[in-house]
Amino acid sequence: MTEKIDIELHINGRSHAVRVEPRKTLVDAIRDECGLTGTHIGCEHGVCGACTVIIDDDAVRSCLMFAVQAQGKRIRTVESLADGEKLHPMQAAFIAHHALQCGFCTPGFLMTLIPFLEENPDPSEDEIRHALSGNLCRCTGYQNIVRSVLRAAELRATAEQATAEQATPQQAEQVGR
Ligand code: FES
Repeated sequence: MTEKIDIELHINGRSHAVRVEPRKTLVDAIRDECGLTGTHIGCEHGVCGACTVIIDDDAVRSCLMFAVQAQGKRIRTVESLADGEKLHPMQAAFIAHHALQCGFCTPGFLMTLIPFLEENPDPSEDEIRHALSGNLCRCTGYQNIVRSVLRAAELRATAEQATAEQATPQQAEQVGR
């Protein structure tokens, strides 16, 4: 039997000390050792995108990575998105536009699209379709997912605008002092 190794995984701002076989995939470690079952396993071959997590700001398929390779990296799973009862704008947009049915593929879509939107705050429909071309959905269809991303981009822009407008009087006050 292969000897297990002690490693530390940094997931959603928390450190998890786990003992794993060197061949254990990251998705298995996240689910089995860390108890974060929001990340799903579909094909286990890097094809479906269900296992996507964000590692150091990039969307990564956690079925194609060993847990030991993720040491020292910043991992984000779908559990990191909501702030208590407050949903991430992408989650809210998915619900508003019926972008899920069974929901199995949804965590993978969210974790693919969030870094995409951070890099492309005002994407075209074609760019969105290209971004999600590596994620498979077998029941909802992609039209509503594309609409959700467009909506999330709008929500993001509005929030940024509101922050900028709020900041202006404060800045004026600071300048006037
Ligand atoms: S389970 Fe990883 S891409 Fe399908």
